[in-house]
Amino acid sequence: MFQVSIQTNTPGGVVNEKLHSQFIEFLGTCISGGIWVGEDSDIPNIDGLRKDIVDALAALQPPVIRWPGGCYADNYHWRWGVGPKEERPATFNTNFGTQAIEDNHFGTHEFMRFCRLVGAEPWINVNIMSGSVSEMQEWADYMNRPSGTTLSQERADNGDAEPFRVKYWGIGNETWGGGGSYTAQGYEDEYRKYATALTSRLSAYPPNPEIPKPFLIAVGPDGNKPVERVRWTRDFFEQYAKYRQPALDGYDLHFYNWNITHEDTATQFDSEAWYRVLNGCLELEEVIHEQHALIKEGLSKIPESEGPFKFRGERDVQLIVGEWGNWHRMEPNAPSALFQQCTMRDALTTALTLDIFHRNCALVDMACTAQTVNVLNSLFLTYDDVTVLTPNYHVFNLYKVHRGAQAVLATAEGPSAREGLDGVYSFASIKDGQLNVNLINPSYDAPCRVALNIDREAIFESAQCLGGIAPDACNTAESPDAVVPRAADAPSFDGEHWIIDLPKASVSVYRFRLPE
Ligand code: AHR
Repeated sequence: MFQVSIQTNTPGGVVNEKLHSQFIEFLGTCISGGIWVGEDSDIPNIDGLRKDIVDALAALQPPVIRWPGGCYADNYHWRWGVGPKEERPATFNTNFGTQAIEDNHFGTHEFMRFCRLVGAEPWINVNIMSGSVSEMQEWADYMNRPSGTTLSQERADNGDAEPFRVKYWGIGNETWGGGGSYTAQGYEDEYRKYATALTSRLSAYPPNPEIPKPFLIAVGPDGNKPVERVRWTRDFFEQYAKYRQPALDGYDLHFYNWNITHEDTATQFDSEAWYRVLNGCLELEEVIHEQHALIKEGLSKIPESEGPFKFRGERDVQLIVGEWGNWHRMEPNAPSALFQQCTMRDALTTALTLDIFHRNCALVDMACTAQTVNVLNSLFLTYDDVTVLTPNYHVFNLYKVHRGAQAVLATAEGPSAREGLDGVYSFASIKDGQLNVNLINPSYDAPCRVALNIDREAIFESAQCLGGIAPDACNTAESPDAVVPRAADAPSFDGEHWIIDLPKASVSVYRFRLPE
């Protein structure tokens, strides 16, 4: 029997809803075929945007969507994707093996429409490798200047009189790799220029809610390289501390749970590979602690500015995980680049990862899973006209209850499932008088019993469970509902503990009402 204790009076911060954000890129069939089918398609669409994806994503309400990449952002020129569709250039996409013509029919307006339809805020990643400062400034003007300029008029002529009010701006992507193979110092120098130019182009005096103050996001390290990631962040902030500081609001760490050097694939694995992959995602918690401490340390070394003008008040740079997810070895018959099936194994790592963010919500503010449709750790897979919700989608949906909620201390005790892997994982939060408790059983083949103690009166309301089926179960075009959450039985109460039986390989959310 496992013991899980919830201490409702030990708040651990508020779960930022932006921890449930998304990422889409011109890669494989994420956009082409996945999100965008075009107005003339037989697949039901809203002005070219795939309707089933829009509807299912709107139900999830992703807080932020990052676009156009990824690595593709540093090869993308925004002018390709505006104006009459028949006049847009055909370009060739080589991103991660995509090897396809892009007709650029999905561009700025289509992305903004997509965001509006699903209720998300856009995060625009600008091209600093093959683009230029003036290209970025013009894009910013095109999107955010309410009216009066040639570019704002062009936006209106292209169908959007209202400005897009983009707040989140990423300056480059993975500049340590595909985004230019920079050194941290070299990138930081480049960042200064882009950040200063964007801030000046979008500054409004007096402040104007029509033109939001840009939230600038710098490229953080490759979270999978323990030595390099420390060095990158130290070097970046050491360079940033020199002379005067441009605005910097977010720092974007990327972390993939790599699974490409073993024989298993996304769908073919044994219990060893199950535990190895579950174990692999847990490292992110340590990386978040490490990177948060390095950011604080770096900021603390910035000297007081001279003279009466303080460039900024209190300095705070939010840690963001702009890309995360499992990255399996490609199946030989994968229909498009980085297309991978998502099984219960991915559902568990998705749940474990989201709970790492939830638990550490005082340290990390935003996170985007990579990627939303047909690429890596997807929420949706499309097969021609059929769209399948992956088990990951169901985890995001079950976990929606934690957005904006107060995290409280949840401790789990009991024998470990494997070396480095606890027997049960838990996270809990409170919102509007409701306590929601996540319980994850990481066992490949064994159910387990949990004695849940809540340190105050609680009334059980409902429970949902995903799993308890084959660990490699997944949703396909033929069986789209093989993996769906189901209601779990009400637990019994022994006066002190709620006795809960968790099926093997499962994620559950138990909801209690906390009387006044
Ligand atoms: O998500 C796929 C790719 O992974 C992104 O384009 C890149 O940023 C990362 O390396």
